[in-house]
Amino acid sequence: MQPVLDYLENNRQRFVGELCEYLRHPSISAQPDHAPDMRAAAAWLAGRCRAIGLKTEICKTPGQSIVVAKTPRRKGSSKPHYLVYGHYDVQPPDPLPLWKTPPFEPTIANGNVYARGATDNKGQHFAHLCAIEAYLKTGTELPCDITFVIEGEEEMGSGNLAPFIKKRRADLQCDGVVVSDTGMPSPKHPAVTYSLRGVMALEVRLDGPSRDLHSGIFGGSVENPAMALCQMLAKCRDAEGKVLVPGFYDDVAKLSAYERKQMARVPHTDAAYRRMLGVKALFGEAGYTPVEQRSARPTFEINGLTSGYQGEGSKTIVPSHASCKITIRLVPDQKPQTILRKVKQHLKAICPPGVKMTFSGGHEGDPYIVAPDSHQVRAGLTALKAAFGAEPIVMREGGSIPIINDFKKILGVDTLLLGLALPDDNLHSPNEKFSLDQLHKGMLMSARLWPELARI
Ligand code: BES
Ligand code: ZN
Repeated sequence: MQPVLDYLENNRQRFVGELCEYLRHPSISAQPDHAPDMRAAAAWLAGRCRAIGLKTEICKTPGQSIVVAKTPRRKGSSKPHYLVYGHYDVQPPDPLPLWKTPPFEPTIANGNVYARGATDNKGQHFAHLCAIEAYLKTGTELPCDITFVIEGEEEMGSGNLAPFIKKRRADLQCDGVVVSDTGMPSPKHPAVTYSLRGVMALEVRLDGPSRDLHSGIFGGSVENPAMALCQMLAKCRDAEGKVLVPGFYDDVAKLSAYERKQMARVPHTDAAYRRMLGVKALFGEAGYTPVEQRSARPTFEINGLTSGYQGEGSKTIVPSHASCKITIRLVPDQKPQTILRKVKQHLKAICPPGVKMTFSGGHEGDPYIVAPDSHQVRAGLTALKAAFGAEPIVMREGGSIPIINDFKKILGVDTLLLGLALPDDNLHSPNEKFSLDQLHKGMLMSARLWPELARI
């Protein structure tokens, strides 16, 4: 192990430089005009994998390619086999004016690298790649066979990954999946995440008059779609955060006393949280702590809302239509399709007669939960403790990685979530960053993990 750790220490600067090269690719999966950048990012990653000695393929799909890279292995190897999953696609950087440095010109400042994708997720899977490089380049025997599966469509729902895994099932059969695409409360509280929320996305559109109308001539005698939509949305969640869709909470599993105790160990103070988010007051469902509210309770969120005139000055119209994008975060044992049905039913029941409502689809993902005390979790905790020099915790997180349920369904294995993001890393926000210290400790964690997983 010592040569591996020394290698990681001695190559710190080079690793940072390479991560910056990776971050320079604007691999925005949601925007078709970035298709060439997606290909370039995949090619860069594959090149890196080959350079460290991995058997690497760029696998085509109907959408973005998937990079699959394997450590060299002996025929009939009896070592445990683990997948390391990550994604090379990133969220759109908008709104651009809010970035202090350009999102695709990685900038090092205060011990961080600033760039879109720095934490979510290029920096995090890159840490694993460096750890494997250290094993291979120092001739240290890897205790596990490892296959990297790095996709390019996570930020849009991973639509092509499950079919790919099914097709390659024999090849990808493994003892577990390791994913660093979540977070930890602080470097002093490294964490294994044992549950993620699921998600159901939906767009709702209301059409009213056949064209924008003069609000003075017609207003008052015709339904205003923008107002109708606001009134409907107001009936979906109350002012304290409780979702008002009938039957919404029916399948929510009760939190055990053990889990609530674990959640109470997650460091949190209201004032610091408030400051970090830049809000005047905290908000949330009564009877639950903020940590519980954002990881173990379901929510109904408006992600975008549009109607009418958005330009400068005023324009006196009754807009012809209004629309909104909604995501609902789900917790065990809620099912996306059941919730979708209930939400649609509720919206239909409260939709006024003067508008026509249409729904359009979004992506979905089941909530995820595994035992917080499995052997794999314990291996993760040991690796985190050695790398971060602090007692780790187990926790739930509020974000979603829908594909990990497919790993379970198709390959029958659990996922070990070892997130390296810090709460102020600005995932999906302007000025995303990744701490270089987290990058290095993430490599140490990965280096320590493989012997622990091989011991199970
Ligand atoms: N890395 C995030 C998920 C995440 C972040 C989980 C922090 C836990 C803590 C991932 O890239 C992501 O953003 N996922 C999307 C999934 C959606 C597009 C289906 C999400 O959660 O919104
Ligand atoms: Zn993301």
